[in-house]
Amino acid sequence: MKIKIASAALMVAAVTSSQFLCASEPSKGEILFKEYCWGCHHQTAEAFGPSFKTIANNRTKGEIIAQIADPDNTYKQLGYSRNSMPAFGDLNASQLEALADYIMKFKDKK
Ligand code: HEC
Repeated sequence: MKIKIASAALMVAAVTSSQFLCASEPSKGEILFKEYCWGCHHQTAEAFGPSFKTIANNRTKGEIIAQIADPDNTYKQLGYSRNSMPAFGDLNASQLEALADYIMKFKDKK
């Protein structure tokens, strides 16, 4: 009996640890998105701002990076009559890149 319980516990431990190891780590872009953007943008549903899916389907990576860093200078070019998004000029180049890559993952496959 004791052996059965012990082996059952071992199996549970093995399963949970393998799930832990296999679960894909959230990317840097995803972590930044949850920290800074989630309040206004969701991955696929419209929120206060457009969804990342909509953005990815309509914009280039360069346009996305420009909008995150300095929306006051890009909103007109993107067709908005005013800007309601704060600038994230404090993010460094690799953070901007990670966010843009994360957004681009939502682009529909053609
Ligand atoms: C306070 C709300 C708010 C936050 C926070 C916010 N956004 Fe926005 N975002 C908006 C709104 C509103 C727009 C629509 C255009 C505008 O107002 O400039 C927008 C537009 C955009 C666009 C261009 C949309 C298009 O038409 O293609 C991108 C790209 C974008 N946001 C990315 C981000 C990213 C990445 C973050 C996090 C670092 C973020 N936003 C955080 C509100 C927000």
